[in-house]
Amino acid sequence: MSALLIGDQVPDFEAESTEGPIRFHEAIEGSWAVLFSHPKDFTPVCTTELGVTARLKDRFEARGVKVFGVSVDPIEDHRAWVGDIKDTQGTALNFPLIADPDRKIATAYGMIHPNADDTLTVRSLFVIGPDKKVKLKIEYPASTGRNFDEVIRVIDSLQLTAKHQVATPANWTSGKDVIIVPSVSDEDAKKKFPEGWKTLKPYLRIVPQPK
Ligand code: BEZ
Repeated sequence: MSALLIGDQVPDFEAESTEGPIRFHEAIEGSWAVLFSHPKDFTPVCTTELGVTARLKDRFEARGVKVFGVSVDPIEDHRAWVGDIKDTQGTALNFPLIADPDRKIATAYGMIHPNADDTLTVRSLFVIGPDKKVKLKIEYPASTGRNFDEVIRVIDSLQLTAKHQVATPANWTSGKDVIIVPSVSDEDAKKKFPEGWKTLKPYLRIVPQPK
């Protein structure tokens, strides 16, 4: 199957997880979601990633985002590893960790990059919109843990775009000025942003972040 790209609908699947059986499309229905793979249970970088993600639960929830981890390990390994995460990361796992021992999910989502490793996944992460389409896709090698603050920063940007037709500039963080998307005419922008904006170029219009 060809790679899953931004704008594509995510494949549905049924699988076991640490919180019971999951039908993915049903589980994410109408919600923002994050699905991220880790290469292997009982490995150091993966342990830290799951701990960090568990500690960020409130921030994901505040944005209406459901989080799911997945790896090609069996559910029994996931259950055994959960204790290590609690012991070492100062927090218990608080989101479903999906088992994919037959690599059905990893294959459908293009998480295995055979020239890196032909059986384990890389660190793939998808942010999925309420329309079940891919909004963000990132891929990291096994040796580099991801920055989940960056994932939340991108979710803030995606949700602003969805709600207010603004885009976010390089290195933007929540609260800073944003950009009126080029598809909004000046006439429509006057209605949406009655307080006005700064035009640096006709295509580069800066406005305070909408509330
Ligand atoms: C890790 O999580 O540390 C890891 C997993 C697979 C390969 C290399 C590192």
